[in-house]
Amino acid sequence: MASKTQYAFLLLSAVMASLFAGSAAGVYHIVGAGKGWRMAPNKTYYEDWVRTRNISIGDKLMFLYRSGVYNIVEVPTKELFDECSMKNITNRWQNGPTIIELTQPGPHYYFCGVGEHCEEGQKVAINVSAFAPTPPDAPSTNSATPGTAADLLIYLAGLAACAVSVLLM
Ligand SMILES: *[C@@H]1O[C@H](CO)[C@@H](O)[C@H](O)[C@H]1NC(C)=O
Ligand SMILES: *[C@@H]1O[C@H](CO)[C@@H](O)[C@H](O)[C@H]1NC(C)=O
Ligand SMILES: *[C@@H]1O[C@H](CO)[C@@H](O)[C@H](O)[C@H]1NC(C)=O
Ligand SMILES: *[C@@H]1O[C@H](CO)[C@@H](O)[C@H](O)[C@H]1NC(C)=O
Repeated sequence: MASKTQYAFLLLSAVMASLFAGSAAGVYHIVGAGKGWRMAPNKTYYEDWVRTRNISIGDKLMFLYRSGVYNIVEVPTKELFDECSMKNITNRWQNGPTIIELTQPGPHYYFCGVGEHCEEGQKVAINVSAFAPTPPDAPSTNSATPGTAADLLIYLAGLAACAVSVLLM
């Protein structure tokens, strides 16, 4: 059962990846890859994931999770992030899937604000690079329309992934 849904998820990821290969509209990063956004298998899982990615301005983070079971909060400093402190939350999202477009360079801190999930490792710090690896060779307005259609498709695929309860429990 689990392997079947994982297979479906990998397939979905592959479809998304191919859809965006070579696109100038920004890359989608599925946070946690095949595991989505959930209780981390260990405390370094998301840290290890982020190390495998080059994330730059204009890219999008896609968090796949079950609404009501997990959420996402953003905090402004490394100190708050390290402590899993919700004293100064700058953003909160609670309906999966969540797509966050990265418009500012520098560090961004996200974690799950439910229970002890953050303490258990459901947290990710992302350092957004100011420049994209490949400069777009067309004016960005040209990609606005296909970008919107593709975004909707990605969102619907994410919605489907979030609905697979076995996968994201
Ligand atoms: C954490 O879990 C992932 C996925 O199960 C695994 O690949 C990785 O080696 C683990 N890391 C540690 C430090 O146990
Ligand atoms: C990130 O970008 C650098 C420079 O372009 C490249 O050398 C490196 O392999 C990339 N890393 C990943 C994980 O894609
Ligand atoms: C909360 O974070 C915002 C954004 O960084 C900052 O402007 C504000 O001063 C912070 N408030 C407190 C109480 O730390
Ligand atoms: C983020 O990346 C930039 C450029 O690669 C680097 O100068 C900066 O120190 C990094 N910030 C953090 C918090 O890692």
